[in-house]
Amino acid sequence: MTTMIQKKYPKGININSEEDEILQKVALAAKELSVEAYVIGGFVRDKLLKKTARKDIDFVCVGSGVDFAVQSAGKFENSSEPAIFKNFGTAMFKVDDFELEFVGARKESYDQNSRKPMVENGTLEDDQKRRDFTINALAISLNEENYGKLLDPFDGIKDLKKRLVQTPLDPDKTFSDDPLRMLRAIRFAAQLDFRIEEKTFASIKNNSHRIEIISMERISSELNKILMVDKPSYGMDLMFKSGLLKYFLPELVELEGVEIIEGHGHKDNFYHTLKVVDNLAQQSDDLWLRWAALLHDIGKPRTKRFEKGHGWTFHAHDVVGAKMVNRIFKRLRLPLNEKMRFVEKLVLLHLRPIGLDKENITDSAIRRLLYDAGDDIDDLMDLCEADITSKNEYKVKKYLQNLKLVRLKLKELEEKDHIRNFQPPVSGEDIMKAFYIKPGKEIGVIKNMIKEAILDGKLPNKREAALEYMYDLGKQMGLKAVNE
Ligand code: CTP
Repeated sequence: MTTMIQKKYPKGININSEEDEILQKVALAAKELSVEAYVIGGFVRDKLLKKTARKDIDFVCVGSGVDFAVQSAGKFENSSEPAIFKNFGTAMFKVDDFELEFVGARKESYDQNSRKPMVENGTLEDDQKRRDFTINALAISLNEENYGKLLDPFDGIKDLKKRLVQTPLDPDKTFSDDPLRMLRAIRFAAQLDFRIEEKTFASIKNNSHRIEIISMERISSELNKILMVDKPSYGMDLMFKSGLLKYFLPELVELEGVEIIEGHGHKDNFYHTLKVVDNLAQQSDDLWLRWAALLHDIGKPRTKRFEKGHGWTFHAHDVVGAKMVNRIFKRLRLPLNEKMRFVEKLVLLHLRPIGLDKENITDSAIRRLLYDAGDDIDDLMDLCEADITSKNEYKVKKYLQNLKLVRLKLKELEEKDHIRNFQPPVSGEDIMKAFYIKPGKEIGVIKNMIKEAILDGKLPNKREAALEYMYDLGKQMGLKAVNE
């Protein structure tokens, strides 16, 4: 039997039986090693906030984190081999779908001869001090004498109640230990819908330039988490107002502001963009679709012109914006694969559906839209709808009606013509065989003319009809069919 320790958890913390079994086994391992042990960090925080159960649990012991992990792993029949990070004194292993992380408590001290901080073993409280936020420094004891006791030296509970993100120490110190924490503060505020305490936020503003020493991989991992919350605009705006955003996404910062010439102003494209991301977040959990929303108008500052007597224009901001996606993804170390191509495509096409109104919503225009968007048509329509942020009710109603009509027509035509995953009904091979010709530009010309005729509705999307049309085209081009 492993349940030797009386289990009692703090009021308001609901530990299920699966979690209890893990905590008790880890507690037993610590007892065998005669080290103090605690659960700490996000697991405790989220339990107190009554969030849905999470599968990663952080443990800290006053001793060697690696030995603690190895001893704990021995208590589970089905644990993975512990992965040991010697340089950091940490280790982790998996049990079922849980990830358990182990670390030894540390404190910072100063070498008498140098100002360089050194890290050495410390008490639980030393370790809590070195953590990022008061709400992440909460610990639960796994020790026999006070099992289940909540240890909260920095009033994390109070901050949870006040819905506040603040550092346990002077924020300048906490952020200088790891400048990514400035972005983490914003991420937690966005995820939990908390405020950032004033001094903590002022410190982020003062130290924002220090984000430059952080790797882009770590930055974009936080950025993605901020984009995935229910209302991403809050975190995005905090990134802007703290001055952090300009260090990794300056193109977005350039969208901010309104210019007025001859009494004509344009909308603030930064806040418009944030509204679009929020609107879309209500429709979809797809990270890349949210990225498309974030970047949909990114080409606007570079295409902005004031035309006398007409006002502000942003001609071709879709094309220019789509071309900017690659550089942004490269910089942020985001994947340069089909996810990026999806974002490029949506930025490029984002004006197309809304450009169709009663006058020009022809079958041919709809077929072309379907052909260009392919399987991404539904995402494109969602983006387009999210893009309607006008305060003018009449305009909103009109645009929504147009889009409804476009959706209806898309459905009708797709059922009839199957353009969405258009496969040319006649291949290059067919053309070469039919006229006994070698690869050359005629093949491309014929294929394209067949495609255009189908999209224009002049030709059904069927092989027989397309072959017949191919022979006609070949004849017109002076080609001789093999069977003539
Ligand atoms: N931590 C820290 N400074 C960092 C990263 C982490 O002090 N730069 C500490 C915090 O105490 C945090 C714990 O390590 O609670 C675990 O980190 P992490 O797993 O990144 O965060 P969680 O709080 O677990 O939250 P989530 O998993 O939701 O990101």
